[in-house]
Amino acid sequence: MRFDPWNPEFAAHPYDVYRRLRDTEPVSFFEPTGQWLVARHRDVNAALRDRRLGRSYLHVASHEEFGRQPEPDFQEPFWRVSRAAMLDVEPPVHTRLRRLVSKAFTPRMVEELRPRVRRVAGELVDGFVERGGGDLIAEVAEPLPVTVIAEMLGVPESDRHLLRPWSAGMCGMYELAPSVEAQHTAVRAASEFADYLRALAAERRARPGDDLISALAQVVDEGDRLTVDELVGTCILLLNAGHEATVNVTGNGWWALLRNPGELERLRGDLSLLPTAVEELMRWDTPLQLFERWVLEDVTIGGVDIPKGVEVALLFGSANRDPEAFEDPDRLDVGRKDNPHISFGAGIHFCLGAPLARVELAESFGALLRAARKIELVEEPVWKPNYVIRGLEALKISTG
Ligand code: HEM
Repeated sequence: MRFDPWNPEFAAHPYDVYRRLRDTEPVSFFEPTGQWLVARHRDVNAALRDRRLGRSYLHVASHEEFGRQPEPDFQEPFWRVSRAAMLDVEPPVHTRLRRLVSKAFTPRMVEELRPRVRRVAGELVDGFVERGGGDLIAEVAEPLPVTVIAEMLGVPESDRHLLRPWSAGMCGMYELAPSVEAQHTAVRAASEFADYLRALAAERRARPGDDLISALAQVVDEGDRLTVDELVGTCILLLNAGHEATVNVTGNGWWALLRNPGELERLRGDLSLLPTAVEELMRWDTPLQLFERWVLEDVTIGGVDIPKGVEVALLFGSANRDPEAFEDPDRLDVGRKDNPHISFGAGIHFCLGAPLARVELAESFGALLRAARKIELVEEPVWKPNYVIRGLEALKISTG
């Protein structure tokens, strides 16, 4: 098999291909998208920290200067919200936007949320176990992070069912060369989501609550530090990034444990291993397989000269299995101590929500391990038809 992000078989089992790339072609040109694939941990890690590479080039050049076509008009609602949020901009705008919300996500602030996260996880898991199991994705993995991030932002409970379809619709645009249909779905989702948040922010401006949307609406009112587009873009980013990958780590993580029963029993017997287990599950089956960067100045990566104006695709899933960075990388070891995985990224865009994700994952895995007498697979799980944002559609489990 070759690197083929559109082939479901590759997407389900990419690790042998990654090994071959690391061994024989650690930086290689991928003709179908015109990108350079970067497969080794040290090169991915260095590229993420290198300011000659950026999530966008629009702060230094126009589309024409980079030899790119401007996006088609119909995509405008999608890019309007994406480019108004920290993930798709570079300093100084990135610094300003990240600073406005970073205080809410520090390890100390998030630790204060732990009791609430534990309660939500406990309720979901107790219901799941009382029913003797079911689909772990729909019944536990999704509702926990959606509830937590929606509560932080102040999205009313009656509207939360809207978040998953909007987020899933927008995610299609982050796959490599998305189909026209996926692009239309993403644009529609972004547009509806933005309308919803504009109305919610206006409501919170009139009647502020104790939530992030109200706090950001106040910043908009105070002066020139945040525009309405930036508020909407930031809320969409937080709501989407705030649950999408966490759902996938929960699903991929349980699937990893079920395929490694020795490690499942080891963890069940010693829950003090939960923090290292969460890091290991994120490394072993990486939820976000690839992130792209634009080359803003000529660079050399892994000995290969790459000119300004092209894109590199950093293979997180491959970096996380690199024997140069991890001892016995294909082995799942829930007690792994030295684990410099790259799943939360690195450099200025390092995941803002990492402390929150860690608390949610430890609480959700812990709750099920404590509550269930047994944890058995009912049927072979099916992967969603995505490669970049990679996770299970459903994971049917019996708890006896
Ligand atoms: C950025 C992974 C959970 C919010 C990122 C990036 C990665 C990542 C890899 C950097 C992307 C890049 O460099 O191009 C993950 C994983 C998660 C997770 C694996 C779950 C296990 C969360 C949560 C939040 C969140 C719970 C909640 C707020 C963000 C934000 C950014 C980000 C706002 C943009 C940061 C910036 O551009 O400065 N995440 N994330 N993430 N993540 Fe997460």
